[in-house]
Amino acid sequence: MEALESSAFADWVRTSFVGYPALLTLHSVGMAIMVGLVFVVCLRLVGKFESIPLASLEKMLGLAWVGFAVNLISGLGIFTSQATFYITSGPFLLKIAAVLAGAGMAAYLRPILKREAVGWAQGGAIPGGVRNLAMASLVLWSVAIVTGRFTAYL
Ligand code: HEM
Repeated sequence: MEALESSAFADWVRTSFVGYPALLTLHSVGMAIMVGLVFVVCLRLVGKFESIPLASLEKMLGLAWVGFAVNLISGLGIFTSQATFYITSGPFLLKIAAVLAGAGMAAYLRPILKREAVGWAQGGAIPGGVRNLAMASLVLWSVAIVTGRFTAYL
């Protein structure tokens, strides 16, 4: 971690006029795409916004991964700037755990949507297990945002 934090790139993130603000801006955009789309999909699966076609949810989750990729790259960039601090930061580690669990659930949910959403739209019910997964995802991504924000303060 010391080597990462003393790298030329980490120094650029820490000291340049644009480094940190540009990465944090990208991080906000990535978060808006990933968490925004996952929230729409999961709220639809727990019974809200019934005018949103179930068949469109799988494609929305596909687009969400673009946001995840942006946050992985921008997050790793910011991480280098204070690697020795973040690796011992409780809020940060809890956030990463919530992000990985949330991403795992999105990856698990997408093929189910591809296979079954049309059937649900034609009168089948959304299985309880899928609704529970959607509810858990809403909680996990909320935890990721709150702990992400508190990382700088705790
Ligand atoms: C989609 C997944 C992610 C979400 C929703 C997310 C969310 C957040 C949030 C809400 C913040 C606070 C932003 C602010 O202070 O304005 C943040 C900051 C940060 N994130 Fe992420 N993040 C994600 C992925 C990652 C990944 C994969 C990493 C690194 C491996 C990472 C590293 C960081 C770092 C280092 C900060 C700065 C903390 C600080 O000092 O303020 N994030 N993230």
